[in-house]
Amino acid sequence: MATTNPMPRLPAGFLWGVSTSAHQIEGAADERGPSVWDVFTAEPGRVRDGSTAAVACDHVHRHREDVALLADLGVDAYRFSVSWPRVRAEGGLDFYDRLVDDLLAAGVRPVPTLFHWDLPADLDWLERDTAERFAEHVARVVARLGDRVTKWITLNEPAEHTLLGHALGVHAPGRTLLFDALPVAHHQLLAHGLAVRALRAAGTFDIGIANSHGPTWPASDDEADVAAADFYDTLLNRLFADPLLLGRYPEGIGGLMPGDVEADLKIIAEPIDWYGINYYAPTRVGAPQGGEIEFGGVRMPAELPFSVREIAGHPVTGFGWPVVPEALTEVLTVFADRYGDRLPPVVVTENGCAYDGLDDTDRITYLDGHVRALHRAVEAGVDVRGYFVWSLLDNFEWAEGYGRRFGLVHVDFDTQRRTPKASYGWYRALLREQRG
Ligand code: BGC
Repeated sequence: MATTNPMPRLPAGFLWGVSTSAHQIEGAADERGPSVWDVFTAEPGRVRDGSTAAVACDHVHRHREDVALLADLGVDAYRFSVSWPRVRAEGGLDFYDRLVDDLLAAGVRPVPTLFHWDLPADLDWLERDTAERFAEHVARVVARLGDRVTKWITLNEPAEHTLLGHALGVHAPGRTLLFDALPVAHHQLLAHGLAVRALRAAGTFDIGIANSHGPTWPASDDEADVAAADFYDTLLNRLFADPLLLGRYPEGIGGLMPGDVEADLKIIAEPIDWYGINYYAPTRVGAPQGGEIEFGGVRMPAELPFSVREIAGHPVTGFGWPVVPEALTEVLTVFADRYGDRLPPVVVTENGCAYDGLDDTDRITYLDGHVRALHRAVEAGVDVRGYFVWSLLDNFEWAEGYGRRFGLVHVDFDTQRRTPKASYGWYRALLREQRG
């Protein structure tokens, strides 16, 4: 259960929100072009329950109801993503235009993410040109919404999109390139830098990115385990953050990237106004164990120079992820130490857990522990300016289909009925309390 100690107050002006993404909730797939995820989910065996996101939460047709839920929840901000395939469809931007107006009318600040994995099916991150196409997409969106939207996120978790989608093949587009997937990382970083330029050119000044991060703990003090964990830490925590914040790749990586890397790094390191961290759980990593292993539903080939291990001694979510709130304090303080004054203010752009049931005290315990952990980082001097729960609604959880429920609001996918869970009430009460 959540502790009964009063929740400490976060600083005035702290931004409380919830997050979603287009492909996971929107549905209305026939009102836009196909994305790599539509192609991927049509292939047998790709999604655990064989489902697709063609309808999902039918949010495009029910967004008014969802905005009412946000207003009632009392969040300051709503992080959603703009579907690139929808923006390219005739009239596709009209939907976001209405959504933004409805959010503002409800007193909720819109915070769009410009790419959350649903790449148009005819594009490919292995091609450098996709970065240029992304900048055009961003320019179109900001031209239409920039008079009302002031806070922007360029990309969501390019690390997962590279690793799961292009290196291991468990997400769209389903490639198994292992380290040959590195150009996908570079092109997304370049796309981010070009997007920052396009947003600035349109006069916006509140720009961030949402990257996934978490502590990597070595399986033992053994040299081989420590080296493997360090390597994994580079992939998860430095591969994207170093170029963005320091203007360089971690040692040994730059030479593996395509094109004029030095020139691109100048674009990639365009200053941003805040840095978004999506945090769920830490990872324990050791030396390779020989042979393919399965971890968290992901098959990890034997060629990888590390192996992911169980974290014992902590409760786990319905997804099997360990619940370790103090690791959020750790990742925030490590980031502040590692990047010093190169780190702009931080926002926790995603944090949440999969559990079933309406009386979700386990989710309340998870969120309560993580907000306290965030507060400890603030007390330790980290400039954290916001917290977004993943997610408002139960939704299409990628390769897991509808089997993992992350929402504060339960969705019955047969009837589309929304029912707030106990955690929704808990979060609403927390926000009221925080505002005194
Ligand atoms: C992603 C979300 C996803 C969540 C839970 C994050 O990696 O940004 O789209 O639903 O984690 O797996």
